[in-house]
Amino acid sequence: MINIFTPLELSNKTIIKNRFMKAATSETLGDNNYRPTKQLIDLYRAWANGGTGLIITGNVMVDQTARGEFGNIVIEDSKGLNLLKQWAKAGTTNGAKIFMQLNHPGKQSPKTISKQPVSPSAIPMEGSNSFAFNTPRALTKVEIQIIIQKFINAAVVAKKAGFSGVEIHAAHGYLLSQFLSPHDNQRVDEYGGSLENRMRILIEIYTGIREKLGQEFPIALKINSSDLRDGGFSEEDSIKVIQKMDQLGIDLVEISGGNYEKPTVQGIGKGAFFIDYASKIKSLVKTPIAVTGGFSTANGMSKAIANNEADLIGLARPLVLVPDLPNQFKNGNFTAVNLHHLTTSIKSLDKKVGSLIGLSYYQQQMLRIAKGLPIQVTNNAWSSLGFAIKRQGLAAFIPQRD
Ligand SMILES: Cc1cc2nc3c(=O)[nH]c(=O)nc-3n(C[C@H](O)[C@H](O)[C@H](O)COP(=O)(O)O)c2cc1C
Repeated sequence: MINIFTPLELSNKTIIKNRFMKAATSETLGDNNYRPTKQLIDLYRAWANGGTGLIITGNVMVDQTARGEFGNIVIEDSKGLNLLKQWAKAGTTNGAKIFMQLNHPGKQSPKTISKQPVSPSAIPMEGSNSFAFNTPRALTKVEIQIIIQKFINAAVVAKKAGFSGVEIHAAHGYLLSQFLSPHDNQRVDEYGGSLENRMRILIEIYTGIREKLGQEFPIALKINSSDLRDGGFSEEDSIKVIQKMDQLGIDLVEISGGNYEKPTVQGIGKGAFFIDYASKIKSLVKTPIAVTGGFSTANGMSKAIANNEADLIGLARPLVLVPDLPNQFKNGNFTAVNLHHLTTSIKSLDKKVGSLIGLSYYQQQMLRIAKGLPIQVTNNAWSSLGFAIKRQGLAAFIPQRD
């Protein structure tokens, strides 16, 4: 019987020692040159020592002019390779594997960073967070080719640095997710229109990385089950993209959902959001499936694996609050993690900065893990708000990822 400590072998023979996967958590611990800091490296050593089998890094940007947040790491060339090597080494301590998540934010690059972000089409952001983003301009075909090369270059550097694999981020409303969505992508050339055209950029990135790095280097994909909006990327589309990537030999698919316009991914106490979708996908493809979002109990994690609903359990917030969750689980000391709401006690302020506080709280805790300090369990949001303002100034009031 398979359980959460049964190793998982990917098709290229890479072995993940157990079924715990740290999902990407943008740590915002890059320095002014967008390189890893010592704190970032120490944080990943702590996670590896905590027993997690597969660790996905926070999103690493492939283009310095297109960043999602302050403190992002950017890889455009081999500068800073030594620090990247230290990061990879820390993340592979204790038999863990570490995949670097590669991303381009497209139009989800805030005003404070991008005067005019790029996107498949010049369609502005919608919803309550839209004030934080400038209207994008449509990419030219030449620029699309350059971005594809940037993803491939970053993957080459990741391998050179000693990362065990890469994950292409095509979820959460970022550039590749924008290409996949008929709402965001209204191009009339071969990169827009039919689903085949909307997934072209993703496929060219994937095959480009594969050609450069060979069959042995694991390539994963993070993708939405849907955008959770009418006229966006549908579940039907998502299934077709995953089936195509499966045929092309992708090594792992991580299922998630939502975007900045519909930031529903980080609910509390609703259970694993995408588990039904994940188990449906599992019956359709041979690629191992990771599912991320909403796990909090030992029982829920065990059941998803034992019932063959997913191959890996993706955990972001739980592994920030309990960085050695797999070790605790093994020792019988983990039953559940409490993902609590933070509040300033001022309703109108909570409404405005609620999602920021949530993120900032987790970023604050990641910094504490890096420094070897205990996690702060609190419902009081003021410290997290102060932390965000101190690090980002007024840009802190611009909402970030879902
Ligand atoms: C602080 C923070 C940073 C995140 N950064 C990323 C990221 O860089 N890339 C990504 O794909 N998802 C990112 N996410 C989303 C998580 O990977 C995950 O999909 C989401 O938090 C739901 O999982 P959970 O319920 O286990 O937290 C982030 C989440 C948090 C809380």
